[in-house]
Amino acid sequence: MTEDPILQQLDDEGVLLITMNRPDKKNAFNDPQWDGLRDALRAARENPAVAVVVLAGAGRDFSSGQDLTAFGQASEPREDGHPNGFRGCVDAVFAFDKPLLAAVKGVAVGGGCTLAVACDIVYVGDSLRMRLPFASLGLVPELASSYTLQSAIGRQRAAELFFTAEWIGADRAVEVGMAARQFPDAELLPATMAKAREMAQWPVSALVGIKQTLQVANRAGVEAALRAEDEGMEKFAGSPENMEAVLAFMEKRPPDFKKFRR
Ligand code: COA
Repeated sequence: MTEDPILQQLDDEGVLLITMNRPDKKNAFNDPQWDGLRDALRAARENPAVAVVVLAGAGRDFSSGQDLTAFGQASEPREDGHPNGFRGCVDAVFAFDKPLLAAVKGVAVGGGCTLAVACDIVYVGDSLRMRLPFASLGLVPELASSYTLQSAIGRQRAAELFFTAEWIGADRAVEVGMAARQFPDAELLPATMAKAREMAQWPVSALVGIKQTLQVANRAGVEAALRAEDEGMEKFAGSPENMEAVLAFMEKRPPDFKKFRR
């Protein structure tokens, strides 16, 4: 029997822990995992017993983002009318109207990083290895991170992280404002759950109302970013540079982008 790619655990205080569960692939997102997260968030939004959601990764890592071995494969159409795969999950993340916390340690790359950036609050563990690898993949940012990261940490810092695709450790994540706090790995999830329970004691209506007021100034930016990113992905996914990056990953070798300049 295959393991559920998304695990859910709701406690008596109203905190739902959603765990991405493909630890042997560093929780890389394939379609079942995107769909599972989408369905979990949609159900949590409708469930009055859920006040706050915490996102975490099984094992040592948060997530290594889109499964590169499935990259460019069209998602199977779904019968319920909601978009599937990555795009359906993006819609569910931005439609989610309750506090969304991320407990992020180990690898948080690509979608694993932008998903965290899309959360309301990010707590990181000492082992964090975060990266926005889009330049190195011949791609553009996704999950509205081209807007949300700038609005969170400023244009200069966001541009530097996107253009260099450099690795970001826990200290740096807190310093630039990508994370609110840093904990030793072993304390990360308990501390995040404790913070979530602190929030869950208040009326859900107030939490939803506060989130709405926090989001209102960002809504237009998020929507415009999603449109621009969709256009960019359409153009660059499957390009020779992108194929070189994906092949290099699968062949476990460094990519050669210089050949496209000769
Ligand atoms: N898609 C598919 N498989 C992935 C993956 C991804 N995004 N990230 C990791 N894996 C797999 C690896 O292929 C490996 O599988 P294997 O054991 O069958 O060979 C396993 O997960 C462990 O990863 P590994 O690369 O051995 O770990 P590492 O610590 O040496 O490196 C990363 C970790 C994150 C630096 C490296 O896996 C990586 O660069 N992954 C791609 C991340 C990425 O670019 N994601 C964005 C996509 S938009």
